[in-house]
Amino acid sequence: MADGKGQMMWGGRFAATPSAIMEEINASLDIDRRMAEEDVAGSRAHADMLAEMAILTADDNSAIQTGLDQVMEELRDGTFPFRRELEDIHMNVEARLKELIGEPAGRLHTARSRNDQVVTDFRLWTRRALERTGALVTALQAALVRRAGEHAASIMPGFTHLQTAQPVTLGHHLLAYVEMLERDRSRILDCAVRLNECPLGAAALAGTSFPIDRDMTAEALGFARPMANSMDAVSARDFALEALAALSIAATHLSRLAEEIVLWTSPQFAFALLSDAWSTGSSIMPQKRNPDAAELVRAKSALITGHFLALQGAVKALPLTYAKDLQDDKRLTFEAFDTFDLCARAMTGMIETITFNTDTMRAAAAKGFSTATDLADWLVRELGLPFREAHHVTGRIVALAEARGCDLADLPVADMQGVHADITPDVLGVLTVEASAASRMSYGATSPVRVAEQVAQWQQRLRLE
Ligand code: ARG
Repeated sequence: MADGKGQMMWGGRFAATPSAIMEEINASLDIDRRMAEEDVAGSRAHADMLAEMAILTADDNSAIQTGLDQVMEELRDGTFPFRRELEDIHMNVEARLKELIGEPAGRLHTARSRNDQVVTDFRLWTRRALERTGALVTALQAALVRRAGEHAASIMPGFTHLQTAQPVTLGHHLLAYVEMLERDRSRILDCAVRLNECPLGAAALAGTSFPIDRDMTAEALGFARPMANSMDAVSARDFALEALAALSIAATHLSRLAEEIVLWTSPQFAFALLSDAWSTGSSIMPQKRNPDAAELVRAKSALITGHFLALQGAVKALPLTYAKDLQDDKRLTFEAFDTFDLCARAMTGMIETITFNTDTMRAAAAKGFSTATDLADWLVRELGLPFREAHHVTGRIVALAEARGCDLADLPVADMQGVHADITPDVLGVLTVEASAASRMSYGATSPVRVAEQVAQWQQRLRLE
């Protein structure tokens, strides 16, 4: 391993060393060192299997296992001597093993290639990342459920087209995100099911002439089974694409929630106030409290989607099997997970500590004739009008209220009777925002009773309280 061509493990047939720029474009160590522990785990399983199949002697295996113990220790205490000129994590681990135990290290790569090795490591890494990210999504759900429980009966305007539509409860609004996030979590965890097949033993692409036991390595690494086609095993990256797609969709939901926070905390809405810990000031305007974290979550969701598209672009025109294009899969995947995890944690922090201005929300809900549907429904229910006619009558009453500059609930009944003679003062009972929300008792609807039920169910599902 001195200087010159002998430094590279594949250097046997080369007369000269790579150019510095070649090294720069080729090296992946800065990225794939994050799979160091997975790489050691893969090598352990492989060596044990080789020994079991008498491809490796028990002595060599025990030297390899002891050496790998030491490597693992160095990785954990930060003393592992990473060397960029050795290209990637696989060559780094093997080279260090050689330094530690000498000749037996050279036998570890029997019946294996970096092609099956790298993607085994990568699957192991992604499997763990999916689990970690799933837990972060659950944490955000838990924060939302808690806040929804506090605000099961707080009235706010529900919007369509960002125009006041009907009164809803804040708890209902927050629980909508809990539902979205549950589908996200399920997509994220579901990826791990298809991912969980072991490529190790596919070797370079065609399998190996050694009598290996792929079931044994698959089992040792916690995979459900070995991948059935060696060419597929070394070149498939749909597990990473699927994970990035799931993150991209989940990030889209985080972005929508972030956008709500941006709107709600604007002085024009004034529905909510971010805590100091989640606000930033302006260097020139002392009055400002900016929702930077929410804005960054909104932007970063696009970044995650971009990473999905970048990987898909890198893979889509690759003929079988491995090509070096596939090296960049890890950068994209690691970054997407890092970014998503940061966004999820930021959203959890904001939701946990945001203050809702329930008076302002309630007042906003009462504006914009938000109970017009309740009036129309009353005309149908009490006077037997066809809904289309009720809609028309209500429209005229709304126009009247608009002309008077008052809300529906404040319009004299006599004026309503001018539009339809059979209207009685009973109608006033359905025109307040509280009555409107409370009346929406259908399954999945916004009434405080239904929301409280949903909160209780979520508390149980997420094992809160
Ligand atoms: N660092 C490489 C990667 O991440 C490892 C596999 C290299 N294989 C090869 N045939 N050059 O893809």
